[in-house]
Amino acid sequence: MEQKYYAIYLSGTGNTKFCVSKFVKLLDENAPIVAIEEEAALSALKNYGYIVLGYPVQYSSVPKMVRDFITRNAALWKGKKVFCLATMGAFSGDGAGCSARLLKKCGAFVLGGLHLKMPDSVCDSKLLKKSEEEKIQIIRRAEEKIEQAARNIKGGKYPHDGLGFFPHLIGFFGQRLWFYGKTRSYSDKLKIDKARCVGCGVCAGLCPMKNLTVENQIAVPQGKCTMCYRCISHCPQQAITLVGKEVVEQYRLENFIS
Ligand SMILES: Cc1cc2nc3c(=O)[nH]c(=O)nc-3n(C[C@H](O)[C@H](O)[C@H](O)COP(=O)(O)O)c2cc1C
Ligand code: SF4
Ligand code: SF4
Repeated sequence: MEQKYYAIYLSGTGNTKFCVSKFVKLLDENAPIVAIEEEAALSALKNYGYIVLGYPVQYSSVPKMVRDFITRNAALWKGKKVFCLATMGAFSGDGAGCSARLLKKCGAFVLGGLHLKMPDSVCDSKLLKKSEEEKIQIIRRAEEKIEQAARNIKGGKYPHDGLGFFPHLIGFFGQRLWFYGKTRSYSDKLKIDKARCVGCGVCAGLCPMKNLTVENQIAVPQGKCTMCYRCISHCPQQAITLVGKEVVEQYRLENFIS
């Protein structure tokens, strides 16, 4: 088996894709990077020994789609060396630790963990909203942290953000105890505003879960949403909501990088 990195990520609004790409390229400039919903993610898991697994934290947990990807392919993780990278809007405690524990149960060896604070992706909530300048600063700080982590790894020292007993306690009591139900299953709470939707199909084409179809010129969710916010942040009509009742700001990382 080749000893080189392969990165697999879930990203709704672009933060995790950006962070994983920057991180893994600093470790191995030829490292392939694949979205978890692509078929290549499975072959990556089969053929590569070193995996960087990236995802956005949701309620201090791992998104359901990522958890399923780990457990559905449990046998393939055996013996892999995995680095867990978790992006978040504010706080997670053990965002990286959540997947690390699952991966260890599957027989993987966890090399380390990295927590990166990035702009908040919840487009239909006013909570954690920041100005454009603040967002740019947050992204810059994340980039610096990634660069530092890559330097340390090259020097043989892996960061261990979110791993260990205390982060586990903080993640559990800080959020998971109260919100675990939110990520236990796929969500059927995605709402389409029929008065706004024009049936363009943008959402259906983007969803990593194939949770949306267009029927009679209206988007219809199928109840298997992994809450990534990709469709919500891209809908040209601002017709989709999940946690809140209306779109406050369609955050997308691509609007903040050159
Ligand atoms: C449903 C949901 C729940 C979230 N929960 C948390 C959380 O518990 N803590 C946190 O710091 N950020 C939370 N966030 C923010 C995202 O983790 C963060 O913005 C992430 O960088 C988005 O990455 P992406 O652009 O790759 O999807 C949540 C976002 C969503 C959509
Ligand atoms: S992207 Fe928006 S307008 Fe287009 S089909 Fe989906 S919900 Fe409707
Ligand atoms: S329906 Fe939207 S928020 Fe849910 S998984 Fe699909 S793209 Fe993500």
